Amino acid sequence: MADALQNRRILLIISGGIAAYKSLELIRRLRDHGASVRAVLTEAGSKFVTPLTLATLTGDKVYTDLFDLTDTAAIGHIELSRDADLVVVAPASADILAKMSAGLGGDLATTLLLATDKPVLVAPAMNVRMWTHRATQRNVEQLMADGIHFVGPNDGDMACGEFGPGRMAEPAEILAAITQHFSENEFSGAKPLAGVHVLVTSGPTHEPIDPVRYLANRSSGKQGHAIATALARMGANVTLVSGPTNLTAPAGVTLKRVETARDMLAACQAALPAQVVICAAAVADWRVDVDATQKIKKEAGAATPSLTLVENPDILATISKLKTNRPDLVIGFAAETEKVIEHAIAKRLRKGCDWIVANDVSPETGVMGGDLNTVHLISADGQEDWPLLPKQAVAERLARSVLTYIQNKKSKA
Ligand code: CTP
Repeated sequence: MADALQNRRILLIISGGIAAYKSLELIRRLRDHGASVRAVLTEAGSKFVTPLTLATLTGDKVYTDLFDLTDTAAIGHIELSRDADLVVVAPASADILAKMSAGLGGDLATTLLLATDKPVLVAPAMNVRMWTHRATQRNVEQLMADGIHFVGPNDGDMACGEFGPGRMAEPAEILAAITQHFSENEFSGAKPLAGVHVLVTSGPTHEPIDPVRYLANRSSGKQGHAIATALARMGANVTLVSGPTNLTAPAGVTLKRVETARDMLAACQAALPAQVVICAAAVADWRVDVDATQKIKKEAGAATPSLTLVENPDILATISKLKTNRPDLVIGFAAETEKVIEHAIAKRLRKGCDWIVANDVSPETGVMGGDLNTVHLISADGQEDWPLLPKQAVAERLARSVLTYIQNKKSKA
């Protein structure tokens, strides 16, 4: 399936910081996705990773200050930045951000950054006090105003023993930011899914016990909302039916807010027909068989109330098994805590959907409510194992798969 990183040329500048080791993983992942990487190592960066390691991982010469500023016979420093599709600075130290902000060009890295006419993405990494220092924040504001893109930093434990913002974004997050950059550029103007109606469900459902209490689950809606966003960006006409979440409505999407599984089914049925349906919601399997119009009270001496549950309608199965106007492509999710693939394969057949996106939602994965996800795309043709990605990147990749499906279908028609 199409990959936004295929044949992209990335110029990676590694400045000084303990996070430099993460850039090695970033190089590996970029190359796995078909991108080529040229590395520039600052003098401070060379205290953390060696030119030999970088040359091995990039499969290319590594550019350092030691000889390249005068190396006009080989590739000049201006050409080095002109020859890239994107310049990435990871880790970006407080020092390099300050130099970029001031427009200094005293070494190879800063000269390249000054000379480039290509977009620049930086992944800051520094001690929390350095990051929150007024001078750094002033530089960041200036760089943002200059059109420099940022990914991170994240909150967390730091190598220096402190805690707070300053940790470099994880390689998967930087990869997603790079992917998003190319996806946006690729699709700005071109809207390959224009005219395609896609229905997406997202979030949890709330099943009332009484007017103040409800049964719910840990779904945040992040994955479903990201899918709706990615499809809308590609020009699809997206209806997003969402249970209660803290997320803002994605741009360019028709959002229908619902509470219960039954409301969600009704809203989906009202939104049909659709060419593609993606059920990412964590729909409650059961609802409470009560119709309490008043709050259930704790009467002194009374027995603890017990709740009787009845099964909710299955939205994915209902849509998959439609006899008339069945969508061309119905995609479900399988949230599993064990035997992920085995259960997901059985679930696809049981529910009658075309593809199923299987993910492990055991507490230790942090998927429920978190920002990262490892998924497997299962269809009648087999299984694709995707790497650990931010939910946004999973969404973009799924949107591309949908696009490929629609294009193939059109070319066969
Ligand atoms: N789903 C749905 N309606 C339901 C339950 C689930 O549309 N009442 C959809 C979900 O949106 C998801 C898929 O079915 O796309 C699988 O959901 P999951 O919670 O993994 O499976 P369940 O059907 O709940 O099965 P089990 O609890 O046995 O794993």
